[in-house]
Amino acid sequence: MHQRTRRKAGMDSSANRRHGATRLRGVNPFRVMLVFNRAAELERQGRKIVHMEAGEPDFATAGTIREAAKRALDAGLTQYTQAPGIPELRDALVVHYRERHGLELPRERILITLGASGGLAILSHLLLRPGAGVLLTDPSYPCYRNLVRLAGAEAQLMPIGVEEDFQPSPALLERHRRNHTAGLWLASPGNPTGTVIPRRQLREISDWADAAGAHLLLDETYHGLHYVDDMPSILEINPGAFVVNSFSKYFGMTGWRLGWIVVPEDQVEAANILAQNLFISPSSFAQHAALEAFAPASREVFEQRRAAFRERRDYLAAELSALGMLLPREIQGAFYAYANISVFSHDSEAFCTQMLEEHGVAITPGTDFGEINGNEYVRMAFTTGMEDLKLGVERLRRALA
Ligand SMILES: Cc1ncc(COP(=O)(O)O)c(C=O)c1O
Repeated sequence: MHQRTRRKAGMDSSANRRHGATRLRGVNPFRVMLVFNRAAELERQGRKIVHMEAGEPDFATAGTIREAAKRALDAGLTQYTQAPGIPELRDALVVHYRERHGLELPRERILITLGASGGLAILSHLLLRPGAGVLLTDPSYPCYRNLVRLAGAEAQLMPIGVEEDFQPSPALLERHRRNHTAGLWLASPGNPTGTVIPRRQLREISDWADAAGAHLLLDETYHGLHYVDDMPSILEINPGAFVVNSFSKYFGMTGWRLGWIVVPEDQVEAANILAQNLFISPSSFAQHAALEAFAPASREVFEQRRAAFRERRDYLAAELSALGMLLPREIQGAFYAYANISVFSHDSEAFCTQMLEEHGVAITPGTDFGEINGNEYVRMAFTTGMEDLKLGVERLRRALA
């Protein structure tokens, strides 16, 4: 009897394991991490590697913020905070939206999260149910399709290319809409493409989503790191949209794990429940430090860095085009060049392996971002200084000659 019970329990647990594995099907590791690890291995062997794979600024967090963190630690601000974050930081974001976007958001609608990643996790639970469909551009940030699949929903990938600036028109959305389509997730500026959805197109997309009864999620993680004059938040156009944003990129705080989401009024309670259950709270002293991100002295540092990224962008875009790679018309934000390499290869992973192993340049295969046409692309991040960037270009030139 005992024996049988034990055997049954064993069967149940292996069935459970299989169930877990089913949810993970189609959820991929980040290939960029493989590149990163291999590059580190080559460096340990004494090779000089040019790093163009990392999706994070090469600058350390601004000194003003680091000092504020030390003060928070010395003051013993080390306990859990409220699940949606400390009121002071949420209020700082209220002011941020007022000043940058002319919006009056009540504090309640803004929740501080563990990076944009934590925000996306909350929103995926909030917005998705098994069997629903979510429209995503192919290419896009890989987490989107992975989170959608983890929720048992379908990632409805829309192949999109450089001709459309990698951002969808209502006609493209309509072409891919199905009966089960429940939402649309986009990023502006985009990763890996660096393209921005212009205000007019954003309005058309928003109107389309409203008419289709689809929720609209905009990832605004790269806001601030843009090189165009007009960088609207979707909230200026559609107050019912869902927004995710981050302290990682413009504010240069990747390792601090802080971001935020903005949800409509009627979703505030559910978002809070999810935040409590998934994370309890964001890091306390990181939040206190982030308050300093809104001080003029910090802003000055961020703007200097943005100017450095712009200079690198100008250099890299010109050089890659001269090498025969097709790029978006303009890299308008973030710090990536998403280059079409089809004149050289139709296998981006083999291409990236060759560039790393034989030429010491670490770049990311497009297959991380595009399941449909990723093999034709590579992503090069200008998250390295001008000197290394020039060395990287020189090595690429030799490799492709
Ligand atoms: C488009 C986009 N969204 C979200 C994230 C997650 O950022 P984090 O969790 O560091 O805020 C990234 C990170 O690279 C990203 O590129």
